[in-house]
Amino acid sequence: MKLAILVSGKARGSNMQAIIEACQEGVIPNSEVVAVIGTRAESPALEKARALGVPTSVVNPHEFPDEETYGDALLWVLGKVQPDLICLAGYVRLLPKQVVQAYPNRILNIHPALLPQFGGKGMYGMRVHEVVIASGAKLTGCTVHLVDEHYDTGPIVLQRTVEVLPEDTPETLAQRVLPVEHATYVEAIRLFAEGRVRIEDNQVVIRE
Ligand code: GRF
Repeated sequence: MKLAILVSGKARGSNMQAIIEACQEGVIPNSEVVAVIGTRAESPALEKARALGVPTSVVNPHEFPDEETYGDALLWVLGKVQPDLICLAGYVRLLPKQVVQAYPNRILNIHPALLPQFGGKGMYGMRVHEVVIASGAKLTGCTVHLVDEHYDTGPIVLQRTVEVLPEDTPETLAQRVLPVEHATYVEAIRLFAEGRVRIEDNQVVIRE
């Protein structure tokens, strides 16, 4: 399986790194990350990708007049590597429509909370953990879902929980959720690589 990973300019790239290493170590079988595409040239995630031996490209949305031309450029770069699966990992923009339509049910995202709560536009990074704590929720976690044309609403593939502790700050909670994200994202991609994921009535069915 050929994977492409999309990251936003400021992403640290820890999920990206977990996915690349899981492919390189065979934890995700018969798979390779063939491209990491970022939105900005100076990006910690792109630097990490290169250090791990993965080719990188930049498609900067600010260099295009509108979302449509940005989407076309992204599609062109993706077309060169022909990925079987696209993974958003710290990609915080809404993916242009034509990209979503060109790869139906083949784009994944990770969200650092239990969707469908605590998602939507602007809900990323520390903001998510702040809102979880403010809500009084006792459980949080992460969600891997398929990407549709909206923020955080596509069919859920996998979720894992993490307890919210009374003394948690957004930072301590983020620190405990992050390793669970890495494991969950790798597990979800492994299910795709093993051909165990089916979509029925807009819901994900996983074969045991
Ligand atoms: C993660 O918390 C992920 O859930 C969210 O963006 C963050 C990216 O972190 N979509 P990293 O770049 O993978 O370290």
